[in-house]
Amino acid sequence: MNISLIAAVGKNYELGKDGSLIWKIKEDLNFFKNTTINHTVVMGRKTFESLNKPLKDRENVVISKTLKYNDKIKIYRSIKEFLNAYNDFFDEIFIIGGESIYKSFIDISNKIYLTEIDSSCKSADTFFPRFDLQNWEKEESNVLVENGIKYKHVLYKRDYKKI
Ligand SMILES: NC(=O)c1ccc[n+]([C@@H]2O[C@H](COP(=O)([O-])OP(=O)(O)OC[C@H]3O[C@@H](n4cnc5c(N)ncnc54)[C@H](OP(=O)(O)O)[C@@H]3O)[C@@H](O)[C@H]2O)c1
Repeated sequence: MNISLIAAVGKNYELGKDGSLIWKIKEDLNFFKNTTINHTVVMGRKTFESLNKPLKDRENVVISKTLKYNDKIKIYRSIKEFLNAYNDFFDEIFIIGGESIYKSFIDISNKIYLTEIDSSCKSADTFFPRFDLQNWEKEESNVLVENGIKYKHVLYKRDYKKI
């Protein structure tokens, strides 16, 4: 499997607050769309509910023990059930959050697309997991600015192999 995480985080790896995103950067939402389009996106039930509807032109997978059947998405009741179903899948799979789902997949991922926002939020209630930067190659964009908010796109890569 070829698993990538994609997220936008603040200086303390803040992800969200009260079930929503903290910062809404239009260019970054486009970056997210262009990166994930035509691929499979995997998310937790709370992130799915925050979207209101499935993401267009992507296969939407939701991990949930409680969500009712919905013909527009695929639902898996555990991470293990999902991994078994996608074991032989070669295309890049994008893990799109939230906190609980990033935590479950980070150890078996090859890439992390992290939009690093130069801002912080004291009332954030969900966070991206910390990871050991030494184990990853890093490529980063120039600093970008939108509505006074500075950020950059950083890609962390490694060659994860199942032991
Ligand atoms: N900044 C970003 O890039 C970004 C991206 C995505 C999300 N977010 C933010 O992150 C927040 C949501 O994160 P979160 O951690 O609270 O929620 P989440 O990960 O989106 O969803 C949690 C739910 O997923 C299901 N789940 C998780 N692990 C499971 C497992 N092992 N087996 C079965 N089901 C499992 C459970 O659903 P059931 O209760 O139905 O069983 C659980 O309640 C929101 O604020 C959102 O806006 C930010």
